[in-house]
Amino acid sequence: MVKRKGIILAGGNGSRLYPITKATSKQLIPVYDKPMIYYPLSTLMLAGIRDILIITTPNDRVTFEKLLGNGSQFGISIKYKIQAKPEGIAQAFLIAEEFIKNSSVTLILGDNLFHGDFLVNQLQKNYLLNEGASIFAYSVSDPQRYGVVEFDSKGIAYNIEEKPINPKSKFAITGLYFYDNSVVEKAKKIKPSDRGELEITDLNKMYMKEGKLNVEKMNRGMTWLDTGTTDSLHEAASYIRTLERRQGLKIGCPEEVAWRMDFIDDDQLYSLSIDLKKSGYGEYLQNILNESKNSSGSYKY
Ligand code: DAU
Repeated sequence: MVKRKGIILAGGNGSRLYPITKATSKQLIPVYDKPMIYYPLSTLMLAGIRDILIITTPNDRVTFEKLLGNGSQFGISIKYKIQAKPEGIAQAFLIAEEFIKNSSVTLILGDNLFHGDFLVNQLQKNYLLNEGASIFAYSVSDPQRYGVVEFDSKGIAYNIEEKPINPKSKFAITGLYFYDNSVVEKAKKIKPSDRGELEITDLNKMYMKEGKLNVEKMNRGMTWLDTGTTDSLHEAASYIRTLERRQGLKIGCPEEVAWRMDFIDDDQLYSLSIDLKKSGYGEYLQNILNESKNSSGSYKY
């Protein structure tokens, strides 16, 4: 099987969240109890991906490294690259060419939050795909803000439009993309759009033209949250808070995911908890560890 690597795109200028993001990266601001990037990072780890590249702005790289280091604390590898200017999502594959080498690659946008069963079951299935591309469609009330996909009567996707004024369906393309190794060569052929960006939608259309684009609908039981505006950011934080308080389980906690996926063992999880004790985050890590030891029933992936 071809190795699969992961990229988190965490650049951009976050201007829709100004002044919050004037002096800091959008993907470092909190969504309730943890930095935003913890969520996409956890998603990649849940898909079984352990070799990850984070693409940041030149200014923010140091701060991301301070937060996440080389990933060894989570039993993974994290490397960093810079995007000098936000010239489009598809540019990630040009920046990451050396990192990708012969692998397949999964890209996740640093401001996309996913939650639900789908993650474990579907992501691990898509992980196995070596050829073509898999992307996900999710029903939203405001499709004009996204890439929008149209399906025929058999449920096959036949068209995608980026931010259409009159969307032809309610299905938005989420910011999670699985590609085969041809993605780098395809990205090299993309021309900048009218807004001067290398569009991810143009890349997906290339796969579609070759009959190699698999668009899967994420069911309504899944949650895909966007953090693009102050309101959607607040809503995402409320959602996380509500569920975490109700279930007593954290969402998007890379320490926990690393442990449940067996990337790290009990002792490593315990060491991670010590620094985090004062905020209650570390206490949570110790609790899940104790619960598993008392075999009082804990979730395993
Ligand atoms: O969230 C899903 C949507 O993401 C898709 O439905 C759209 O097809 C796709 O174009 C994209 O739309 P957005 O308008 O949300 O993209 P935005 O420019 O906000 O960028 C998304 C994230 O990627 C954001 O956190 C910043 C980062 N980014 C973006 C660009 C263009 C970069 O790091 N570098 C970039 O050059």
